[in-house]
Amino acid sequence: MSILIKGGRVITAADDYVGDVLVEGERISLIGESLDVEADRVIDASGKYLLPGCVDPHTHLDMPFGGTVTADDFESGHTAAAFGGTTTHVDFCIQPPGTSFGEALSMWHAKREGKAIIDNGFHIAITDLHDGGSLEELASLPEQGITSYKLFMAYKGALMVDDDTLYRAMEVAAQSGALVMVHAENGDVIDILVREALEAGHTEPLYHALTRPPEVEGEATNRAIQLAHLAGAPLYVVHVTCREAVEPIAAARVKGWRVWGETCTQYFFNSLEDIAKPDFEGAKYVYSPPVRDKSNWDVLWNAVRSDALSAISTDHCAFTWAEQKHMGRDDFSKIPNGGPGLENRLHMIHHFGVREGRITLNRMVELLATNPAKLFGLYPRKGTIAVGSDGDIVVFDPDKPYLVTAEGQHSRSDYNLYEGTEVVGTPELVLRRGEIIVEGGELTARPGSGQFIRRARFGEELRATAPVA
Ligand code: URP
Ligand code: ZN
Ligand code: ZN
Repeated sequence: MSILIKGGRVITAADDYVGDVLVEGERISLIGESLDVEADRVIDASGKYLLPGCVDPHTHLDMPFGGTVTADDFESGHTAAAFGGTTTHVDFCIQPPGTSFGEALSMWHAKREGKAIIDNGFHIAITDLHDGGSLEELASLPEQGITSYKLFMAYKGALMVDDDTLYRAMEVAAQSGALVMVHAENGDVIDILVREALEAGHTEPLYHALTRPPEVEGEATNRAIQLAHLAGAPLYVVHVTCREAVEPIAAARVKGWRVWGETCTQYFFNSLEDIAKPDFEGAKYVYSPPVRDKSNWDVLWNAVRSDALSAISTDHCAFTWAEQKHMGRDDFSKIPNGGPGLENRLHMIHHFGVREGRITLNRMVELLATNPAKLFGLYPRKGTIAVGSDGDIVVFDPDKPYLVTAEGQHSRSDYNLYEGTEVVGTPELVLRRGEIIVEGGELTARPGSGQFIRRARFGEELRATAPVA
């Protein structure tokens, strides 16, 4: 199958030009001006942007968490992602304590089997390096294409690791070519603050945010940066929310340390006002780190513009409000942490970032596709539009209005963090490895057609392997 996309405005992290793109089989084979070639299908993209398929480096599909399981599995999550212009994501394979990494990976591979629509890789979330998971096994994971590890410095009694485990994992990563990711919040201090709040009778969702103040994020971010530097490991700080965490990352980067950070869409748009909403509506905005004071919105826009932060993910961890969030109706600490977002990252960042003049189109592509691909061993196979790269392309209509609602979304969550927001600009057609997966408002791909991607080691490139048809 060959597809010729004609006359679109091709946007990469570096380029912006009008051209034709030929996709043969799974890969881009030719880019040029007014290409005179035959193709099985010709798509007129005049007036549209051609963006690389977006790469979401942070999602949680079909994940047991907080006494329940996230609402989206690989089929519903991938459907949401595809409609939002995301064609690759890296999900978290959580090591159940006492389980080897190999066993955990088998469990997560089974979850995607027969369901995957977009392509994905896995990060390993390390919970235990004593029983089950070993340092040796961890060191061997890059051979299976698992080239990043996440460690949780919070969620005491559940996913949290101590500094012993964190530092040992960093030492392994320094040798094995993996990237260390941290959830940077001080879990011990949060545990004290939560108990104090509950003892004082504060049970409502707002106290989720008040017991996880910016200082605990700033402290853990700085600790992780210093420890990673000592161990010689590259570090990626996930879901950065506030000035207290941006500043140590920016300072480390100025010194040339191998530190990167991401924020997530929701931290630009949700705030303490949302989590304080009455009648338990605030529970929709319970995720960690929590929503912050609105003054942090500009801090984050400046950080993504200036490259203090290098990527925007979704941290899609969807629950239903009517059922799952209500597990914490009488105790905020029992509300499952996480929110939906896979479908609306491009909508929201294009409208409020690009259209409203906060970032350039090129920078948007860099933050949503190219940098995540580079940092997580997917580039240049993913994250750009170039000859030889996978045919992952979003034909994006920059002028078409789109209303963000839970009713219109493809996630199984029953709410949307940006409910009722009117944006201008939406994906019109989405290609994943040369196959049209969304067209005319319909999903056109078969569940099971998404591929597991074995990612390259940190700093190494990943080339497409499929032959041009
Ligand atoms: O609240 C969140 N972010 N849930 C997902 C797990 C995590 O910490 O990333
Ligand atoms: Zn986290
Ligand atoms: Zn997460």
